[in-house]
Parts: sequence; C-alpha cells; structure tokens
Amino acid sequence: MTKIKKAVIPVAGYGTGFLPATKAQPKELLPIVDKPIIQFTVEEAIASGIEEIVIITGRHKRPVEDHFDSNPELEENLMRKNKEDLLAKVQETTMTDLFFVRQPYPLGLADALRYAKPFIGDEPFALLLADNIFEGEEPVTKQLIDVYSEHEVSVIAALEETKDKVDQYGIIALQEDAPLGDGTLYPIDSLIEKPQQDQAPSNIAVAGRYILTPDIFDVIDRMTPNKQGKYDLTEAINTLNKTQRVFAKEIQADRFDVGNKLGFMEMAIHYGLSHPETDTELRSYIINLAEQLD
Ligand code: UTP
Repeated sequence: MTKIKKAVIPVAGYGTGFLPATKAQPKELLPIVDKPIIQFTVEEAIASGIEEIVIITGRHKRPVEDHFDSNPELEENLMRKNKEDLLAKVQETTMTDLFFVRQPYPLGLADALRYAKPFIGDEPFALLLADNIFEGEEPVTKQLIDVYSEHEVSVIAALEETKDKVDQYGIIALQEDAPLGDGTLYPIDSLIEKPQQDQAPSNIAVAGRYILTPDIFDVIDRMTPNKQGKYDLTEAINTLNKTQRVFAKEIQADRFDVGNKLGFMEMAIHYGLSHPETDTELRSYIINLAEQLD
C-alpha cells in the first residue's frame, strides 16, 4: 500500500475576511501570539509523518515563502546579541523541505489543487487548509492517514458544529450505512457548501483536512467552472464519490477556525494561556476582565 508522505497546503486566496489587515500581507502569516498561522499547519503535517509539502501560493503571497527561508542578516544579528533562543526559533522555520507553486488566479480550491498535480503524481496525498488549527492529543492529519492505511479510501475530517454555524462550512450528508471500524468513520452521501440552516442535511462539518486519492486530479481536469467562475473542491469530491467511496472521519480534536475573526481571537487566547512568556499575566488579565464584564 502507498504510504502518504506528501501534502498540499493552498494559500492563494485573497483572505478578504481580514481586510484591511490582509491588504499587503497574507492572511496565513497573521500571528497567533508569535507564530504565524501557516506554521501551525506545516508543523501538523510534519508531526503526522508528512515528508514533502507543496504550498500553493499566489503573486500576493510571496512573504509566505520568505517566512520559511533563511534570513542571514537577522540570524547574524541574533547571534551577535547572544539571543540563542530566538535564533533557534528563527532557524527552525527553515528546516522543512517545502516546495512552492503559484496559482495564477484564485479560481477556487479545486483549481488550486490542479497546480499540485505534477508534484503529487499518482499517489494519495493530504490536503490541509490553514484556516483551521487543531488542539488534541494526536494530529488530525495523522488521524486521517491512519484511516487511509487501514481502508485505502479518500477521507475527510469531520466535526459536529452547532446548527447556527452550518452556513459557514461545507456540510456532510452521511449515508445511512453503519459506520466502520471504531464507529467514527462514515460513508458520505454528498457535501453541501455553506447551506442555509433549514437546508442543511446535518450539522457535521468538513474540518479542513483531507486525504485524497490522485483520481481527484482527473475529476478536476473534467470540471467546468460554477456560476461564480470558480472550481469548487466540494463539487470535485462529490464527483469523486460517484466512482469511489469517500468517507468522513469524526476527528478527536478541538478546532479553532482562525479564518474568522472570533476563532482567530479564541486561538490567540488559547495559545497565549499556554505560552511561557504570557501564560500567567494573560490568565490574571482575563480573570480581572471577566469580573468587569456582565
Ligand atoms: P477560503 O476561500 O476559505 O479562503 O479558502 P480565502 O479565499 O483566503 O479567504 P476569504 O474567504 O477571502 O477570507 C481556503 C483556503 O484555500 C486557499 C485560501 O488561501 C485558503 O487558505 N485558496 C482558496 C487557494 O489557495 N486558492 C483559491 O483559489 C481559493
């Protein structure tokens, strides 16, 4: 069986949800305390056993490449000032083998994946969307890789959401069949992108992590753009599901949706409370603030 060792992280979107902050800098470099969003994603992929990562960028996303490159002047400066801790943190970011390819126009996630095809070849691969950061015992991508290792199927990370949030996510219609294995793996009937509350078939949401077979590339090659001129991944996966079964895996982790403002702030607080430089004072600040709030 093919081992999953390659991952795709697309970052070529406009990040309109954070304007004007993302007018001149990529959304994926917004910091959670002192670590940019994309670094959490890359770290999850590596912790899951991924060996090679391709990042799909765009012309306004060059700083993402720079973040993972060396910075000799800065490193020399930190060395001269004996700031070894900071130097180690800076150098850690260059230790991963990353590949970059550009998506010329942000025409949707399925279109972004098209540019990963020469890198992925004929292997199953992981797809990670940086908008989601997870906290849990085992990396979410690893949880999906374990499913692939056992069943050799495409699999999507799934999490139950409250009903009022279904219009923010891809929502999964599950098949009636009994779940597989440990009872957390379900065959998918279809995916519906951001449905109205009264039209949602469930409140099980796609959680930004996927294992896909390379057949997805043939599906994307045959796609035509939707009414908005975009190539939706949801539609591509629905088509793939017609010829080979795609599963949803209920994952064990807490999700922070850092692609929206509230989720971003929640993640910053969560991370700040576990950060050695901010934990104690942030905790006191939150306790004091809570006393002043109704
Ligand atoms: P989103 O549509 O959620 O993110 O795509 P966005 O376009 O960056 O953000 P908003 O909605 O305008 O705030 C999910 C991920 O897929 C990438 C995005 O960069 C994001 O990380 N993406 C999206 C691409 O790489 N190419 C695309 O054509 C679309």
